[in-house]
Amino acid sequence: MSRLLVTGGAGFIGSNFVHYVLENTGDRVTVLDKLTYAGNLESLRGLPEDRFTFVQGDIADAGLVDRLVAETDVVVHYAAESHNDNSLHDPRPFLDTNIIGTYTLIEAARKHNKRFHHISTDEVYGDLELDDPERFTEQTPYNPSSPYSSTKAGSDLLVRAWVRSFGLQATISNCSNNYGPYQHVEKFIPRQITNVIDGIRPKLYGKGENVRDWIHANDHSSAVLAIIAKGRIGETYLIGADGEKNNKDVVELILKHMGQAPDAYDHVVDRPGHDLRYAIDSTKLRDELGWEPKFSNFDAGIEDTIAWYRENENWWRPQKAQTEAKYKEQGQ
Ligand code: NAD
Ligand code: DAU
Repeated sequence: MSRLLVTGGAGFIGSNFVHYVLENTGDRVTVLDKLTYAGNLESLRGLPEDRFTFVQGDIADAGLVDRLVAETDVVVHYAAESHNDNSLHDPRPFLDTNIIGTYTLIEAARKHNKRFHHISTDEVYGDLELDDPERFTEQTPYNPSSPYSSTKAGSDLLVRAWVRSFGLQATISNCSNNYGPYQHVEKFIPRQITNVIDGIRPKLYGKGENVRDWIHANDHSSAVLAIIAKGRIGETYLIGADGEKNNKDVVELILKHMGQAPDAYDHVVDRPGHDLRYAIDSTKLRDELGWEPKFSNFDAGIEDTIAWYRENENWWRPQKAQTEAKYKEQGQ
């Protein structure tokens, strides 16, 4: 049994990870989360009290972080400002949390000699052409496009430097686009599902040709547990499930499963600097650690996700109006 400190555990992927760990291992979990607009305690409701603790706080608070890291075996670092569109309008919180917050955590992990796993994104590699036969690998050079992805790239480089210069016991994973329950309605898939529920037409940026490589949040969680258990210190592992789809196809799939006409969506203003395509080659993770994704049927995964949003309106409703108002101001 290990004690895990999960930062950002009240967010989308962090909360899915906490549920996954408590259901599939005997580990204890402490979540450290600031509860920004993206954090929601409702995502952690009903967890076993003897194995789960919640602490509200900022990962850039050095005193708090030092105390919590000292009491743990493994730090699993999810906390971040995570939305590209927000980073284009107000980059500062991305620097504070993604850079200074990560620095604060790795300093504490170094001082207390604790195992550290850093959660990152495939966006650090920039984007690919639609017809490029290559996919991202651990050797792809960093080339981030947005304030979000550049701060994530910066945080990855800090972790790498702390491994080399100070012997930090760390691993890094860079994952592709996640979908599943508990995702904030600002993000593409939940935004469109909840729009349809509300009788609003889905909004596609630009022509909708951009490709994302979708993975279910539970497959991300199983990969992170495999890396914590068996990953080599200092190594980076790419996580992906061969789920490339363009945005137009995803919107049409959502419309089909929600009983709407396939063209019942609007094209809106494109995202500035919009990355064209992401694609992950996860051979290293699969060959070295024996990991495989379980949610390979995207169609069925989207149906389950639609059902979750239909059944959990209480969870997302408080965020919906203000999220759409913000998008409206931006013409999106
Ligand atoms: P999210 O925005 O849903 O959740 C982020 C969480 O971090 C929230 O609960 C928020 O309250 C918390 N947080 C923010 N700033 C904090 C601070 N200063 N101190 C403590 N807590 C703070 O994000 P997500 O989509 O779940 O992403 C989680 C992690 O996974 C991020 O590091 C992100 O870069 C990475 N990632 C996300 C995806 C994806 O598809 N969403 C893919 C690959 C990697
Ligand atoms: O690749 C991993 C990344 O995936 C993570 O690092 C980020 O934290 C996560 O937010 C996600 O980034 P994206 O920018 O790819 O996700 P988003 O859900 O914002 O958008 C997905 C695609 O859909 C993207 O091409 C933009 C487009 N889009 C988005 C919204 C919100 C639309 O066409 N319409 C929309 O309304």
